[in-house]
Amino acid sequence: MEFNIAVLGGDGIGPEVTDEGVKVLNALGGAFGHQFSLQYGDVGGISIDKHGTPLQDEVRELAWAADAVLFGAVGGPKWDDPTAPTRPEDGLLQLRAQLGVFANIRPVKVYPKLVNSSVLKPHVLEGVDMVVVRELTGGLYYGQPKERKQTPQGWTGVDTMFYTEAEIERVLRVGFALAQGRRKKLTSVDKANVLECSRLWRQIATRLAQDYPDVELEHVLVDACAMQLVQRPSSFDVIVAENTFGDILTDEAAVLAASMGLLPSASLSDVPVAGRRTKGFYEPIHGTAPDIAGKGIANPVGSILSVALMLRYSLGLTEEAASIERAVEVALDQGYRTPDIATEGAQKVSTTEMGQRIVDALV
Ligand code: IPM
Ligand code: MN
Repeated sequence: MEFNIAVLGGDGIGPEVTDEGVKVLNALGGAFGHQFSLQYGDVGGISIDKHGTPLQDEVRELAWAADAVLFGAVGGPKWDDPTAPTRPEDGLLQLRAQLGVFANIRPVKVYPKLVNSSVLKPHVLEGVDMVVVRELTGGLYYGQPKERKQTPQGWTGVDTMFYTEAEIERVLRVGFALAQGRRKKLTSVDKANVLECSRLWRQIATRLAQDYPDVELEHVLVDACAMQLVQRPSSFDVIVAENTFGDILTDEAAVLAASMGLLPSASLSDVPVAGRRTKGFYEPIHGTAPDIAGKGIANPVGSILSVALMLRYSLGLTEEAASIERAVEVALDQGYRTPDIATEGAQKVSTTEMGQRIVDALV
């Protein structure tokens, strides 16, 4: 089979880790007889520098035309001027919104071999295996008004948390559906003691629960959830949250896995079904890591596991997806570690070596 993949590496370590994702994809294509036709494009800061905009129309079209998008990361100190008219992140936010990928699925699991790489105590990490569904195209990130302006009180800034019932319902349904295929527990995160949006969210979650009688629904306030994530993380199965809440909670959840560099994500415009072909947007959850960019030491596992999710949810290649996930586990079992997850005495490898070890472990 032939598949069209748009590859948008972006800034900082984005292209470095994305190259390893592509390396694994190509190796897998060879092994299973698939052809991946790759279309590369600029996005983010590099696109601002080269073309004056974080997302050119032609890159937008390339993403639209592809079966799936493999994305790296965008941003960096060079483009951080708060008065700049545009930012690298705008390119990413536009892509997500225009592709309509409202459900950002972020699996968090702890590899037994990496328990000692986390700063948390091993007994807390036992049995951690959860999926966070982050609403991705609404909420505080996109609500209007969103602006800074001069007023009689001086400068003011406003962001708006806004959701329609339909937007809340569709992402909650993704959470319920995922929970049905797992341990049947859904934690709906909100701040219903303060926010109107959250009270609506909670009401809708409670109503939808009737359609999923086999799933146990709990409501947890976002601040309490942040605490419980490090206190008793194994009690979570599927978490569903507003855009900003999900962003914050998944950085925290990365501490459980030992490193941000390990976590992948899939962004979809529908309930995920393994084996079905549907367009999707795939990116590791980490950023551009300007401090290590260009040094060849970034962890490519988040990007490589994002490729696995792409195979499963966009290309209909479930067996191939599982073989990547197994290969990652084998490479970690063999002791290969990028610096972010290396404990004393570990076999430290570079970004490209880690990618190669995973390719070597592919079946
Ligand atoms: C993420 C990132 C992005 C986000 C940034 C780069 C805009 O933090 O994917 O988690 O906030 O969504
Ligand atoms: Mn984030």
